[in-house]
Amino acid sequence: MSILELQNVRKIYGEKENQVKALQNVNMQVEEGEFVAIVGTSGSGKSTLLNLIGGLDNPTQGKIFIKNREIGSLSRKELTIFRRRNIGFVFQNYSLMPVLNVYDNVALPITFDRGKHINHKYIEELLRELGLWEKRKKYPNELSGGQQQRVAIARALVNKPAILLCDEPTGNLDSATTIEVMGLLKSSCRKYKQTILMVTHNEAIAQTCDRVIHIEDGEILTGKRSFQAKGGEQS
Ligand SMILES: Nc1ncnc2c1ncn2[C@@H]1O[C@H](COP(=O)(O)OP(=O)(O)OP(=O)(O)O)[C@@H](O)[C@H]1O
Ligand SMILES: [Mg+2]
Repeated sequence: MSILELQNVRKIYGEKENQVKALQNVNMQVEEGEFVAIVGTSGSGKSTLLNLIGGLDNPTQGKIFIKNREIGSLSRKELTIFRRRNIGFVFQNYSLMPVLNVYDNVALPITFDRGKHINHKYIEELLRELGLWEKRKKYPNELSGGQQQRVAIARALVNKPAILLCDEPTGNLDSATTIEVMGLLKSSCRKYKQTILMVTHNEAIAQTCDRVIHIEDGEILTGKRSFQAKGGEQS
């Protein structure tokens, strides 16, 4: 089985006349080690899709399997642990803890996971690789946007998650930093055989991924290996 599989997933927000059909009949499979870009216009359902896959919200209908576990069948507590051990998140707005320095922000997910030992060597390796080692004692408000995003990526990688979910990770970055962040995600994907799903508005960046999934009005238009224009052959 694929590392990730969605079966007939639908997500409806709101009630009655306020209903929004954010996702409709989404079926997809992602293989271990794949780097998948998710593109689509604003409001098409991209963030909703990542939130459901990450177990941050429940689908209205359908099933999501990660590593052969149906995440909807897990209790709240099991889901929290499963998520912490298997899934990393990177958001556009960094979501760092302002009262923690760079090092402690990165170590945070491990600190939460009692019983897990903090691998300081790995944190140092990550911070060095991301060019953040010199900044390890700085606080988020002392860093540039690109630096903050790299801290957020280091934090998402610290548990070596099987699946990394990135919502516009380069949305606020200049083009040089974007290239840097993309390179980092790719090398991490290869090195740790990670599966990455990345939402992006940038078609050129999407083209550098293994596969592009195009989503429009809550439906997947194409999941082919090379990008197809809207209205192209469905898969
Ligand atoms: N919590 C919510 N309650 C009600 N409607 C929501 C909620 N979250 C999202 N929506 C609606 O669901 C649809 C899909 O939203 P979503 O955030 O997934 O889009 P998106 O593709 O990520 O857009 P963007 O590119 O602007 O980030 C939109 O119509 C949005 O207004
Ligand atoms: Mg979004």
